[in-house]
Amino acid sequence: MRNTAMKPVRSLESKLNLPANVHIFANSQDVAGAVSNRIFSQIKRKPASVLGLATGETPRPIYAAMRAAYHRQDASFSHVTTFNLDEYAGLSNDHPDSFAAYMRRELFAHTDFQAERINLLKGDAENLHMEAGAYENAIKAAGGIDLQLLGIGLNGHIGFNEPGSTADSRTRTVRLSEATLTANLPSMTALSAVPSQAITMGIASILEAKEILIIAIGSRKARACLRALQGQQDLSCPASLLATHANVTWLLDEDASEFLDR
Ligand code: GLP
Repeated sequence: MRNTAMKPVRSLESKLNLPANVHIFANSQDVAGAVSNRIFSQIKRKPASVLGLATGETPRPIYAAMRAAYHRQDASFSHVTTFNLDEYAGLSNDHPDSFAAYMRRELFAHTDFQAERINLLKGDAENLHMEAGAYENAIKAAGGIDLQLLGIGLNGHIGFNEPGSTADSRTRTVRLSEATLTANLPSMTALSAVPSQAITMGIASILEAKEILIIAIGSRKARACLRALQGQQDLSCPASLLATHANVTWLLDEDASEFLDR
């Protein structure tokens, strides 16, 4: 496995909402390299690992590295179980704008993940409340999430836990904020408007993962990172609640770290 220029250029240890490790890398490729290496080492140590997966622009290079490792025969995912964080309400897993379709395009269709171990929320379930409860049960039945990947929204959301989401929140239906609807519009391929509701793992569900990697790329994420890492730990910035977890690592590029105290 390659492990070349993926060393952080800097790590922050003070003035943070501890306990969190914050590593700042020269660029997004190095962040992706570090995250994918952590995934590969996890799977090597425990082939039947349970991964929590995220969508959005941020994880794309990570999934590209996973595809490449599979094709080089450096990694196999055939025993891995996955749980995705969230899905738009009303969209079937076949809809091109669903996160399920994104996961197929970016990762599942090109690797050896086994369909029976892939868990995706069904945005078009008849009863989203029951769907949410069944998802929580499935995570428990799988033994909990070993390694959870997270991105961060411009407003500090994690998954689709918008500001105001409580620390004890579980998988549930949520209403998306105007900020999120606007931020996510460019990623729609077939829809002209972002669905106004979603189903998401809750903050408590996320915090039960044994280890969390949260990734932020680009200057547009700098303010959310500042609030999450050096602001008040409160519900107005859901990512700030990660500070209550004992094993969280933040991986940022230089641009996303620009407002953090050095
Ligand atoms: C979405 C997802 C989040 C993701 C966030 C940031 O709203 N629900 O899980 O972290 O957007 O996405 P991006 O990586 O595209 O900035």
